[in-house]
Amino acid sequence: MLQGHTAIVTGAAQGLGYAIAKAYAAEGMRVALLDIRGDLLADVAAEIKQNGGDALSITVDLADAGETQRAADAALAHYGAPRVLVHNAALLITRSMREITLADWQKEINIILQAAFILSKAVWEPMINAGGGSLVYLSSGSGYKGFIEEVAYNPGKHGIEGLMKCLALEGREFNIAVNAATPGAPINTPMSAQNYTEELKQRWVDPALLAPAFVFLARQDAGGLTGHRVAARSDGSWDAIDLL
Ligand SMILES: NC(=O)c1ccc[n+]([C@@H]2O[C@H](COP(=O)([O-])OP(=O)(O)OC[C@H]3O[C@@H](n4cnc5c(N)ncnc54)[C@H](O)[C@@H]3O)[C@@H](O)[C@H]2O)c1
Repeated sequence: MLQGHTAIVTGAAQGLGYAIAKAYAAEGMRVALLDIRGDLLADVAAEIKQNGGDALSITVDLADAGETQRAADAALAHYGAPRVLVHNAALLITRSMREITLADWQKEINIILQAAFILSKAVWEPMINAGGGSLVYLSSGSGYKGFIEEVAYNPGKHGIEGLMKCLALEGREFNIAVNAATPGAPINTPMSAQNYTEELKQRWVDPALLAPAFVFLARQDAGGLTGHRVAARSDGSWDAIDLL
């Protein structure tokens, strides 16, 4: 069902996004890879192509609205309507309320939440015209609990879950599934390397182990799982909580 269809994955240069992009390519999907790290992204696209896949790398700063719109337009022009959009890119800079500036705050919020809106709006009509699709936003424990020194990341992740709930309801009419996903296990990624405690680093796993949940989510439309927060487990399973 996914073979020959398109996935758009943000933050695909490394970490969890890289694992998701590779899993989609292994399913025979054509993958539009978006990331600010154009150097790494070129290697990811080359790796997918070497394995017989089809990938397009688009270097973009998702904190910038105009660049984000242009990246979405480029992906749509190249591949047409995607079956799935996974907005996985995020930035976590731990800063207290006393330290953070408005510019810092806006940058993190824009990458997490503004980009989710712009990318989702860009694919919304094409997905409607294609008869459906699936939107997936990477959330976090920070999407439902509070943490100190996450003055931007915490509300950004809460916001993305709010956008998910609204669009899951609006998407019913158009056969579009909208879900949030969280890592259901500690994962070995550059973000984790910066932010995990030593105890967590003892038991972090390859994010590729979490990829089956994202393959499952790519297959969803409004008749399947929608409006849920899905925790991707390292044994390839997942738990889903209905948020509607
Ligand atoms: N690592 C964890 O334990 C953990 C826990 C909960 C949620 N998450 C979420 O999972 C997702 C992936 O996390 P990860 O650990 O792989 O993160 P990561 O930092 O390792 O990778 C994130 C990717 O996003 C890209 N990115 C950052 N800023 C960008 C920008 N301005 N424009 C375009 N791309 C940009 C980075 O270059 C990177 O490739 C994130 O949404 C994160 O919030 C991670």
